[in-house]
Amino acid sequence: MTGLLFRSAGDVVSRLRRKQGLSDNELAKEAGLRVGTLRDIEEGVPPTDSQLQDLASALEYSPEAIHLLTGEFPERLQQALVEDPDRGLEALEEAYDVETLEQGPGGGLPEPIFSTERGKLYNADCRDVLPQLEEESFDLIFADPPFNLDKDYGEENGDDLAEDEYLRWSTEWIDEAIRLLRPGGAFFLYNLPKWNIHFGDYISRRLTLRHWITVDIKFGLPIPGRLYPSHYSLLYFVKGGSPETFDPDRLPIDTCPHCGGEQNDYGGYKSKMNPKGVNLTDVWDDIPPVRHKRYLHRDANQLSLKLLHRVIGMATEQGDRVLDPFGGAGTTYVAAELMGRKWVGTEIHDCSPIQERFANIDEDRSYIEEIEQDLNVLFSADAIDKRLEYKEEFGLNFEDYDLSESIERSGQERLGPF
Ligand SMILES: C[S@@+](CC[C@H](N)C(=O)[O-])C[C@H]1O[C@@H](n2cnc3c(N)ncnc32)[C@H](O)[C@@H]1O
Repeated sequence: MTGLLFRSAGDVVSRLRRKQGLSDNELAKEAGLRVGTLRDIEEGVPPTDSQLQDLASALEYSPEAIHLLTGEFPERLQQALVEDPDRGLEALEEAYDVETLEQGPGGGLPEPIFSTERGKLYNADCRDVLPQLEEESFDLIFADPPFNLDKDYGEENGDDLAEDEYLRWSTEWIDEAIRLLRPGGAFFLYNLPKWNIHFGDYISRRLTLRHWITVDIKFGLPIPGRLYPSHYSLLYFVKGGSPETFDPDRLPIDTCPHCGGEQNDYGGYKSKMNPKGVNLTDVWDDIPPVRHKRYLHRDANQLSLKLLHRVIGMATEQGDRVLDPFGGAGTTYVAAELMGRKWVGTEIHDCSPIQERFANIDEDRSYIEEIEQDLNVLFSADAIDKRLEYKEEFGLNFEDYDLSESIERSGQERLGPF
């Protein structure tokens, strides 16, 4: 693995080619190479010196500039700077221009396939759309990219790549995401721990890591010879030293699903507990997998609305702008829409599940109402019912707890007066 800080020459060639709007056939022809050879190079096979020379001249760059863009400072270039400073400087200028060119706002945004008063969805590769968006214009970026597990999202979309290629593919959109984030804005990246180890290192050189959040969800089947994978990683960064908005919801006390009894012993602290519930921790074990047909909008990985509701609520305020480059079933977009945030999204494949979901957005609205019912209270409505049911049998009561927040939300009349 070359790691995230370096790109292969082929990767740079591929970026330059796409930037110039050339197909692989066109560039291969111009450079006098077979298209298969060019594809191999773009997939990471190192080009020979003469192939690189031909590709560079077809792209109207110097081979030295291409080397610089891979993140290397080749010995040849050091020599050139000593022996022929003008040529060395030219290469440096060219490489610098490409990076600036890639970062500057362009003029070619496609028409959105779908929009609402608050949001816009582009049916496109995020790597083509993100460079066209205005720098530092988002308060929250949430990304749940393909995990490179060879799922059927389509070819060359980050799910059937060699490890190095996947990491490089990821830096393309991550670099853009970082550029688009406002100072004080939050960047959340949901992925397997295996990948987030690399991204954590790469991104924390550019943003400030706030948390590695563990999202406790069983992946599916146990893997022979390995521990049963049962969590995802959610990286949480901010641009600059501190977040503009940090307003996490508080959760109800963890109770037994059968009788409503406390799972932890709060002993003499009951009366001192915050009536709005307990602090959110960096282990989230209350996020359900999306299995229920009513909420499942397509086959591939779809996140729970509860997760997006939590992230958006914690890191943004009403009217803030949210970006999610990997639309999927549009969970981020419906959450943002229903929570009064503006949003922008891209999805490279079929966008119809997202459009259909918006057509039935009331289903998601009622789920959010359900979620909110049990936030910022000491006892969930269900726990209150259970505790009343098993009051005598298990000696459960509410003595000492301050239930001022819980009563109103639960609609319970049997609890008062307090
Ligand atoms: C893991 S899913 C996202 C699921 C989403 N968070 C949800 O809850 O519905 C990843 C999505 O990214 C899309 N995708 C893959 N490569 C892309 C790219 N380069 N640009 C935009 N979308 C891409 C895939 O088609 C897939 O729908």
